[in-house]
Amino acid sequence: MSENNDPKGMKRGLTRYGDEAFSLFLRKAFIKAMGYTEDALSRPIVGIVDTYSGYNACHANVPDIIEAVKRGVMLAGGLPVTFPVISIHESFAYPTSMFLRNLMSMDVEEMIKAQPMDSVVLIGGCDKTVPALLMGAFSADCPTILEVTGPMMAGNLRGERIGACTDCRRLWGMHRAGEIDAAGIEAASEKLVPSAGTCGVMGTASTMALMSEAMGIMLPEGAAIPAVMSDRMRHAEETGSRAVSIAAENLKPSDIITQDSINNALRTLQAIGGSTNAIVHIAAVAGRLGLDASLNRLDAIGKETPVLVDLKPAGKNYMEDLYRAGGLAPVLREIESSLALDAKTVTGKTLGENLAASPAAWAQEIVKPASAPLAKNEGMIALRGSLAPNGAVLKKAAASPDLLQFEGRAVVFEDLEDLAERIDSEDLDVTKDDVIVLKHAGPKGAPGMPEAGYIPIPIKLARKGVKDMLRLSDARMSGTAFGTIILHISPESADGGPLALVENGDIIKLDADARTLDLCVSDEEMAARRARYTPRPPHAGSDRGYLKLYLDTVTQAEDGCDFDFLIPK
Ligand code: FES
Repeated sequence: MSENNDPKGMKRGLTRYGDEAFSLFLRKAFIKAMGYTEDALSRPIVGIVDTYSGYNACHANVPDIIEAVKRGVMLAGGLPVTFPVISIHESFAYPTSMFLRNLMSMDVEEMIKAQPMDSVVLIGGCDKTVPALLMGAFSADCPTILEVTGPMMAGNLRGERIGACTDCRRLWGMHRAGEIDAAGIEAASEKLVPSAGTCGVMGTASTMALMSEAMGIMLPEGAAIPAVMSDRMRHAEETGSRAVSIAAENLKPSDIITQDSINNALRTLQAIGGSTNAIVHIAAVAGRLGLDASLNRLDAIGKETPVLVDLKPAGKNYMEDLYRAGGLAPVLREIESSLALDAKTVTGKTLGENLAASPAAWAQEIVKPASAPLAKNEGMIALRGSLAPNGAVLKKAAASPDLLQFEGRAVVFEDLEDLAERIDSEDLDVTKDDVIVLKHAGPKGAPGMPEAGYIPIPIKLARKGVKDMLRLSDARMSGTAFGTIILHISPESADGGPLALVENGDIIKLDADARTLDLCVSDEEMAARRARYTPRPPHAGSDRGYLKLYLDTVTQAEDGCDFDFLIPK
């Protein structure tokens, strides 16, 4: 909590006209046009970030959440004021949502800083929105509290329980293999997303929500409540009330989020078997406060953290099941001895105090006991080697055990277009014992680091029943996907990484135990390849605008793909 002698409420950040009294007079004259009284305008102001968008089904309940947050703010004596920021949905962002995450974070930061508010409630949910909200708000460092939209309910397809987006990929894979016809896949599209809310599996949205709760920036129990349940609205109301208190206490992100908070979030990531995307996002979020969420830290924490949560894609259940099992609390209880329990949270209490106040545990089968986990440890591991000098990640919990020590022949695709053109060719020279390599799908190469790392099994192998192969790229992968897939190879191929020099037939060696990923090509041969390598032509339109800013300043995956000028020196 910081000493706060700053102007409050409407007097904050007055527009510069050279006469502060006039600035306040003018500001009040305009806001009174919306019917506010002097009494209302004298209250603590709680800004509420509105991320509703007609393009974002994961945020379809934001208007209801805003009403609940407003109710909480007013019950506590504050004045709620909503304002819009960019909203990004995974399937409606070209070229990718990741391309726009940093733009959204800049929007959030600057709108919080520019407008008068004593605290701010962030509302988000879909994959990139929670990281962008946290990045922006942590940089602005105004008292902040997060409310997520919550997961969608699971659907039902002729008696089979399904949900976005693990089942989207599984059913699409069956369609590709000829097991589901066109009418069948069309019918599935009407059942996969049965309600508002974020993807109902342990994808990126669920992972970021749970990590945010563990980090202490959200009120307890908030991560797992489904979007359409009344509990979600009660949680939102409490969040609104608490937003008034943190304004009075001047409790800022920099007072709450420490290295211990980030470590707790990383430990939660490993324990829930979370999405690989989250390591990029947490690196960016931590980086805004000068904290560390490096691959080395992730890997070290993973070695001592059991994987406990039985949700798709690695397990078989959905987020609504985790909610019924108690949400994050039973997970934290199982790893309690290794958490930093004295880390402060937005409640004003420590994580340990919050946990002690959580409802007592009850019998359930979703969160496994640490004594009988889904995996003893290492849900996600970091790799390095001659093919990934600065690192790569592998979600071991979702990989095939027989591919974790593997050596195979590279089958190379130069970019996404090449992949789309040839992966299903009957002439493709590929067997199940090969390693599929995708280049130029990283932060700069694609651009926007698409979720293309889930490279499909070549159709001629899929038809023979091949379900998994070792696949690698500088891309990301949806947290809802599964398989033996190495991602985030750094440096990326478009940034001078050795991945750009891999050729068909090269031998690639993965040793997950030793944490190595190597290209078995001599130094002399690599030097010769580098000498004759021709960089690709610039992306169309990269001489101006946001694309230019992005390409000039985006960092690599291990630094969170944040813009270099947004990371404090
Ligand atoms: Fe929004 Fe999955 S598409 S959370």
